[in-house]
Amino acid sequence: MSDAERVPAGVDAGRPNPARMYDCYLGGTANFQVDRDAVARITELVPEIRDAAWANRGFLQRAVRWMTQRGIGQFIDLGAGMPTQRCTHEVARESVPQAPVVYTDNDPGVIAHGREILAGAHGTAIIEADLRKPEYLLSHPEVRRLIDLDRPAGLLIIAVTQFISDADDPWASVARYAGALAPGSYLALSAPTADHMVTRKVDRILEVYATSTIPVTTARTRAQVERFFAGLEIMPPYKGAAPMLTSAGLWDCEDPETAESDGSLAFYAAVARKPGAVGTASSAKPTAGELGLDVSTLDWRRSTHGPGAVEVAFATARGERWVLLRLSGDPAGRVSVFSRFEWECFLDGVRHGEFDDAISGNP
Ligand SMILES: C[S@@+](CC[C@H](N)C(=O)[O-])C[C@H]1O[C@@H](n2cnc3c(N)ncnc32)[C@H](O)[C@@H]1O
Repeated sequence: MSDAERVPAGVDAGRPNPARMYDCYLGGTANFQVDRDAVARITELVPEIRDAAWANRGFLQRAVRWMTQRGIGQFIDLGAGMPTQRCTHEVARESVPQAPVVYTDNDPGVIAHGREILAGAHGTAIIEADLRKPEYLLSHPEVRRLIDLDRPAGLLIIAVTQFISDADDPWASVARYAGALAPGSYLALSAPTADHMVTRKVDRILEVYATSTIPVTTARTRAQVERFFAGLEIMPPYKGAAPMLTSAGLWDCEDPETAESDGSLAFYAAVARKPGAVGTASSAKPTAGELGLDVSTLDWRRSTHGPGAVEVAFATARGERWVLLRLSGDPAGRVSVFSRFEWECFLDGVRHGEFDDAISGNP
C-alpha cells in the first residue's frame, strides 16, 4: 500500500510529524516519505539520534517493568506515540497480566493507528488529549473506568515535554497529573537535552523539527528537567547510585561503565515516587472475597521452616498482584491479603535484618 493510500482522515501527510519521525528512528512502518526525508536530514549530521530514540524507548520499557516489580498494576502513558515498539501494556502484562493502561496523544494519526493496534487489547484505551489540559484527561470516562486513582498508578511522560514551550508551563501540567495520583504512585519522565551535544547538531534538529506539525521543540537543561519531579522522591537510577536524574541509557542499567552511549546522553530520565503512606486514600484492605478470588482454586505453596507450616499463594486481581497467606490447617480458614508492594517492603526489611530485634522480642 502506498503512503498516500493509508493517510487517515485529519492527518497532515504534507509535513514531517514528530510521532511518525520517532517511529522512523525506531525502524517502524507508521511513517511517510516526508518523515523519512526529515529523519535523513537529521541523521546526516546527527547519526546518534536513532540510538537516542532506542535509549529512550528502552528507558520507558525498563521503567514500566521496574514499577510492576514494586506493585504498580495500572498505567497512564501521556504522549504515547505510535504503538509499534513493545508498548506499555505489553511490558506491564508480562508481570501483571490484566494491567489496565490508558494511552493518550494529541496527534490524530497516533490515535487512528493506536485504535487499530489496540482493538483486541482488553483493558486498554487510547484517548486523544493534549498534555496541557490535565482536567480533561483526569475526568475522562475512559480514565475513570480503567484507572483507580485511589490506588498507586504508574504515570509515564516520556519524550513529550519538549513539545511544550516554557510559556505553556509544562511543569504545572505535570504537577497536576502527579497531584491526582495516590501516594505510592510513580512518575517516569524523560526529556531531551542539549547539555551534551555540539551546537550545530542541536541547531539541525531544531531546524528540521521547526518544519514539522509541532514546530516548537525545546531541549532542556538538567535543572529544568529536574523541576518536573518537584514534590516527588527521585529513585536511585541503578544499584548503588544516589537518587538523581541520569541519561536514559544509565537508568536501571546492569553496568554503568558500559551502559552509556552518545545517543543515550541526549535524554535525561528519572523515576520518582509520590510520597505518603500507600493505601491511605482508599478504603480498608480488601479480603480475598472482595478481590473475587476463590481461595480453594489458588496454587498454595507450603513452607515448613519454623514453628508451624504457612501457605502462600500469589494472585492477580483488579490489575494488581496480591500475596495471600494462611496457616496450614487453621480450622477458621483465615487468609491474610497483602499487596505485592507491602510484601516486597516486608521482605526487604527481613533481608536487611530490620525486624530481628522485634521478632526475637528484644527491642
Ligand atoms: C517522541 S514521541 C514519544 C513517544 C513515547 N512517549 C516514547 O517515548 O516512546 C512524542 C509524542 O508526544 C506527542 N505529543 C506532542 N505534544 C503533545 C501534547 N501537547 N499532548 C499530548 N501528546 C503530545 C506526539 O504526538 C508524539 O506522539
